Amino acid sequence: MSDKKSSSNAMWGGRFASGPDAIMEAINASISFDKRMARQDIEGSRAHAAMLAQQGIITDNDAKAIREGLLTVLSEIEGGTFQFSTALEDIHMNVEARLKDLIGEPAGRLHTGRSRNDQVATDFKLWVRDQFDAAIGGLDALIGALLDQADAGADMVMPGFTHLQVAQPVTWGHHMMAYVEMFARDKSRMVDARARMNESPLGAAALAGTSFPIDRDMTAAALGFDRPSANSLDAVADRDFALEFLSASSICATHLSRFAEELVIWSSAQFRFVVISDRFSTGSSIMPQKKNPDAAELIRAKVGRINGSLVALLTIMKGLPLTYSKDMQEDKEQVFDAADSLMLALAAMSGMVADMRPNAESLAVAAASGFSTATDLADWLVRALNMPFRDAHHVTGTLVKMAEDRGCDLPDLTLEDMQSVHGAITDDVFGVLGVQNSVASRVSYGGTAPSNVRKQIKRWREILA
Ligand code: ARG
Repeated sequence: MSDKKSSSNAMWGGRFASGPDAIMEAINASISFDKRMARQDIEGSRAHAAMLAQQGIITDNDAKAIREGLLTVLSEIEGGTFQFSTALEDIHMNVEARLKDLIGEPAGRLHTGRSRNDQVATDFKLWVRDQFDAAIGGLDALIGALLDQADAGADMVMPGFTHLQVAQPVTWGHHMMAYVEMFARDKSRMVDARARMNESPLGAAALAGTSFPIDRDMTAAALGFDRPSANSLDAVADRDFALEFLSASSICATHLSRFAEELVIWSSAQFRFVVISDRFSTGSSIMPQKKNPDAAELIRAKVGRINGSLVALLTIMKGLPLTYSKDMQEDKEQVFDAADSLMLALAAMSGMVADMRPNAESLAVAAASGFSTATDLADWLVRALNMPFRDAHHVTGTLVKMAEDRGCDLPDLTLEDMQSVHGAITDDVFGVLGVQNSVASRVSYGGTAPSNVRKQIKRWREILA
């Protein structure tokens, strides 16, 4: 980064006799990171200049020079030839200073009726709005991959767990669809927050509005906002949009980490429920046999950074008096890092889900283990023998104990064994002890039956179409 040395700042140095201390410059400058908002800054300034001309606040010629000059600045930044200066603090002043080099005097008219306070809020909102859109796109892709997995494995049985102990058989499709629900809620949080944040701060100026006859509706529309924000103090003080992005991202990252953890467990030699493709695994530098689920582990970890960003920004904003305080400059790195982490995690998860192969055989063996159909047996006693559920639970528990003592599964007990515990049990009971029957019977709304899963897949495909 090359520095333009000057005794006092060219943008606000009028009342200063000397330039800032080097440490002051270092703590104050944000250009090293806020240059990521260059495109948004230039877009905002172009809209502002067009509005100033339309309102007769600057001439059409000046507006034209400003708007064209800004495009040159943008191409210099995107082409990598732009000389960023720490002395010029931030992206706003770097762009304006370069505009002055390029077009001279009219550049000085751009900042009429505007302040860096509404400018930074506008730029950052535009940047965050793009991230909401990217997250929504990433979630759509992931949900699509999950629906395909659910479709292919709608009938495939697997153990359902509570406490990570085998509980009842479920279907692979049902398990995938649980994540569809979770990620669809994440998407709806992003959609909601995006709609709420889409108000333009531009024209709030420093904090109080301006005496120039600006048209905030015009700039809002030009920048794709639904309307200008209604209170100038709130407009420059508000970072709710960033907090909402971070909180929606944290919940989404939490979901990603839970799924990632399951994939880590499922892909282990002890489980062998799923094969993660080579494309999303790595080898070990010392153990030739190893295939590690690194992508899943890193997705599991990203939640740490994203939650951290949320807590950091909540803490930065806490207790800040209205309106703008320089503390708020610390918002950007948190959001940049969280957004990068989330988009990468979503993309990695989508790729991994699309590629992974469930191991139907291991899943079926595991589904039948751990007396997983004990509840089906108890339910049968209730239905066939009209037994109160609590008694049925007790009888079933006794049978489970018997099977456990013999080292066999429930379907391996004989009818005589069963009748020794309860005389009225008939041969029909064996019909409910198989896992396939078990899952097929769970047709209550939201239950795991393959017929339900297929309906849910269809419902979600229609919603997403
Ligand atoms: N770089 C600043 C930020 O990111 C821009 C706003 C500066 N405003 C001010 N009053 N110093 O917050």
